[in-house]
Amino acid sequence: MTVTRSVVLGCGAYLPERALGNAELARTVDSSDEWIVQRTGIRQRHIAASGEMTSHLAINAARAALADAGVDAQSIDLIVLATSTPDQTFPASAVSVQAALGINHGAAFDLQAVCSGFVYALATVDGLLRAGNAKRALVIGAETFSRILDWTDRGTCVLFGDGAGALVVEAQQQPGAREDRGLLTTHLRSDGRHKAKLYVDGGPSSTGTVGHLRMEGRAVFKHAVAMITDVIEDAFKATGYTADDIDWFVPHQANKRIIDDSAHKLGIAPEKVVVTVDRHGNTSAASIPLALDVAIRDGRIKPGDLVLLEAMGGGFTWGSALVRW
Ligand code: ACO
Repeated sequence: MTVTRSVVLGCGAYLPERALGNAELARTVDSSDEWIVQRTGIRQRHIAASGEMTSHLAINAARAALADAGVDAQSIDLIVLATSTPDQTFPASAVSVQAALGINHGAAFDLQAVCSGFVYALATVDGLLRAGNAKRALVIGAETFSRILDWTDRGTCVLFGDGAGALVVEAQQQPGAREDRGLLTTHLRSDGRHKAKLYVDGGPSSTGTVGHLRMEGRAVFKHAVAMITDVIEDAFKATGYTADDIDWFVPHQANKRIIDDSAHKLGIAPEKVVVTVDRHGNTSAASIPLALDVAIRDGRIKPGDLVLLEAMGGGFTWGSALVRW
């Protein structure tokens, strides 16, 4: 008996032109390249140009993903854009992407789960595709976190960057076997008791302002590894796969120490871990598709590979996805 699976057809990414290195940043904030690299692994981040909005980054990433998949934009009937930094409070930035691609059928909407947004978007799209609500989707993570940073707060402004990444995902009939391509399992979690540890101090219904990102970094760090490993164990339990079966581990890129500790606790070999936080910083919902794109372009991720994704972020929210590429 065949089963419907969401199979990845293509991947694309876009980074704003301007790269801001630690040394340059340390000229305006009381920090140093040494501190940032040692505590986070970050060496540089990209910053959107004045007037360059989240939807612009998303459109570029979407076009690259469509080209990589070799499919026409008109074949897309669902666009889900994960972002916490939309162009406007409404409408969704996803409809700007839809309009720019010349699509006026199907549905487009934004999804907000902060750094877990891309995993949440993948799980949402997977559900809609498998239910028959759509046939071929763009799943995008795009952020301009530089716009919500307090550039005088050295505890947060050194950590984040801007960027976008996208996947084209299609509903396909698969044999229902262990070798099936596509999304094999997704697991989403949240716990709002932690919402004050990582939040933005503004919003349309509270202050009427956009606000700035606030974070208790040490408290976030303390919870991150346990939450990440827990939800990955759920993916292993659901599929019967183990750390040894994983070809590539593509985690949310927040901090190299969190990535290393998670991989170590799970028993995933360091050479299987895709790390881009050094070049991109934390791009929130964009970090996973940006990292996927790097590992596809340099030849690491190939069709048939078993790829493990995870993310954890504000809320707290966290989640995992296991994909046969
Ligand atoms: N440069 C120099 N010194 C700094 C900086 C900086 N940029 N930032 C903080 N410090 C100082 C602090 O003031 C403190 O000084 P003190 O000892 O004199 O008081 C000292 O460094 C240690 O500060 P801590 O915050 O305890 O440092 P820590 O080792 O915890 O590292 C960090 C901070 C990097 C933020 C770490 O806690 C972390 O990565 N946490 C997780 C963050 C994260 O992953 N966030 C994203 C979640 S995803 C999302 O949803 C957006």
